[in-house]
Amino acid sequence: MRQLEKIAEEIRKCGRCGLSKTRRNPVPGEGNPDSTLVFIGEAPGYWEDVKGKPFVGAAGRLLDEILEKVGIKRKDVFITNVLKCRPPRNRDPRPEEVRVCTPFLDRQLKVIKPRIIMTLGRHSTAYIFSKMNMKFYGITRVHGQIYEAESLGWKCYVIPTFHPAAALYNVNLRDDLLKDLLKMKSILETSEKT
Ligand code: URA
Repeated sequence: MRQLEKIAEEIRKCGRCGLSKTRRNPVPGEGNPDSTLVFIGEAPGYWEDVKGKPFVGAAGRLLDEILEKVGIKRKDVFITNVLKCRPPRNRDPRPEEVRVCTPFLDRQLKVIKPRIIMTLGRHSTAYIFSKMNMKFYGITRVHGQIYEAESLGWKCYVIPTFHPAAALYNVNLRDDLLKDLLKMKSILETSEKT
């Protein structure tokens, strides 16, 4: 817990990139430091920037709904993002921002050492795949697949899925998102017993 709080403090003081000048509040991430499950989104949006918390806007409400459907409590998991500060007008993260910001994510993951990492959308999936030395062919091709990863430094499963924001605009993706989370839950339950 202390280690995660220390990382969060560093994030709050961070000035490594230009986003530190436009953000209102950095969003280090939050949740159970002992969680076996970590969700990684892209970057804070408008409401996350206002509140300093991850996934508290419309996409977050959809994520909460799906978590409830699969019987997972938000307080039991850890939720964070690739970028800790909001890009202006929610533009895509720039490679340089990803480069300077992701050491924070890497450290968070190393402290938590989750059994399952669920990446939400293409940006977090592309980043985690790059850490696993895997080519990323797009979220549509890889969502719902289960990848065993050891190259992060401990043994875990990486399960990519769609970003909840995408599912807000494309109703069909909500079913996929739900199915992927159900699959993840079954892995979580079986791997808990071993
Ligand atoms: N979208 C993200 O990727 N992360 C958030 O925290 C909110 C919206």
